[in-house]
Amino acid sequence: MSKGFAKRESWSSLLAFVWAGTGAAVGLGNVWKFPYMAGSSGGSAFVILYIGFLAIVAIPVMISEITLGKIGQRNPIDTFDSLAKIHHKTRAWRFTGHLGAFTLFLIFCFYSVVAGWSLQYLRFSISGKLTNISPNDVQNIWQQFISNPTEMVLASVLFVFFTMGIVLFGVKKGVEKSCSIMMPGLFLILLALVIYAASQFGLRESLHFLFDFDLSKVSPRTIVASLGHAFFTLAIGACAMMVYGSYLSKEISVIKSVMIIAILDLTVALLSGLAIFPLIFHHGLSPSQGPGLMFISLPMVFSTLPYGNLVGALFFILLFFAALSSSLSFAEPLVNFLMERAAMKRQKAVIAITILTLIGATICALSFNLWQQARLFGKIGIFDAVADLSTNILLPIGGILIAIFAGLVVKEKDFNTTPRTKIWFHLWRFLSLYVAPFAIGLVLINSLL
Ligand code: PHE
Repeated sequence: MSKGFAKRESWSSLLAFVWAGTGAAVGLGNVWKFPYMAGSSGGSAFVILYIGFLAIVAIPVMISEITLGKIGQRNPIDTFDSLAKIHHKTRAWRFTGHLGAFTLFLIFCFYSVVAGWSLQYLRFSISGKLTNISPNDVQNIWQQFISNPTEMVLASVLFVFFTMGIVLFGVKKGVEKSCSIMMPGLFLILLALVIYAASQFGLRESLHFLFDFDLSKVSPRTIVASLGHAFFTLAIGACAMMVYGSYLSKEISVIKSVMIIAILDLTVALLSGLAIFPLIFHHGLSPSQGPGLMFISLPMVFSTLPYGNLVGALFFILLFFAALSSSLSFAEPLVNFLMERAAMKRQKAVIAITILTLIGATICALSFNLWQQARLFGKIGIFDAVADLSTNILLPIGGILIAIFAGLVVKEKDFNTTPRTKIWFHLWRFLSLYVAPFAIGLVLINSLL
């Protein structure tokens, strides 16, 4: 059993939980991965498939994860441990909690590097460094930046400080409050960018790109990738949502919150495409994803637009909010872990996680310059190894374990079922216990191959 329980905090309301959960869910993946994935893999055919995966795999597992947290009302390790004991299952289940903490730590390290880029580019936009310059200059700025160890490390360090500074204030005054400001802010900025893109360049080409139904582009690979993304984007598999669920009070409905979070998450992913691609198409660039899209293609466009630095700055604030609200969901569970498992005070736990993450993030940042030649597992660079291992391997493993465990131990009474809603409980249990582990298993095998 854990030592030294301080009185646990909880979310103030359903809305507070929804903003924090949406903060975890909406991240870099929504802005730079999903729109391109959809556009290049079959348009609306892909979107329909993706919504199907959300409905039958990702949403049920998210319900599983949050429900376990809500029942346990403590850190994942102790939750697995006590529920396993009550239900006469092996106590080895608690290692799922350790695995989650390790996964979150790795994600936090590499994510901080990328999030640091958004901070740096926000600075570039505001200072006018990206105004009226040639495409070549844009490329050079990016190359110079990532090959400069000091700047890269400083940007990540700054981002880690932002995150930990918020977590220092705790669940209500830190995570909840900042997400209730950042998330509505993110939606407003996104809407403003979509309206801007529509009024300047029109949405037609982007709507075609994102939504034209083309079944021939849906390959087995894209099917597996879309399932993997559904999983990553809802922030499940690393026990982060479980910790957020453990801050829920009895009366708040898990199912309702999960539905709202999933819809908001999908909305941001689709709107991001409508904010970004009109600019890209108008400029005659081809659509892409990842850092190339964010820090090369888009800055090329911004540099030529009227009020380009303003549009650019808004865009990088959007990216920063998306990244920061997600990184709170890595940091808060890790701090909670130290507070409850090592009986640390919040301040001390925050300091410990900050130091560890700074070390990890620095190593990841240096793999773009000083340690560019270093290879892990024989052939991949450090940054890619950390990102791949955590998101493509550890997250699915955690997801499978969480889904099965919840299917085994969560009972009807935990869902407050009525005779009328009983059927939903059985449907959820079937999806969590059988369908999700099988489907996620396919994603895992695909990554391992
Ligand atoms: N959902 C976040 C994104 O889309 C990433 C994330 C993964 C957050 C796992 C928490 C846990 O970027």
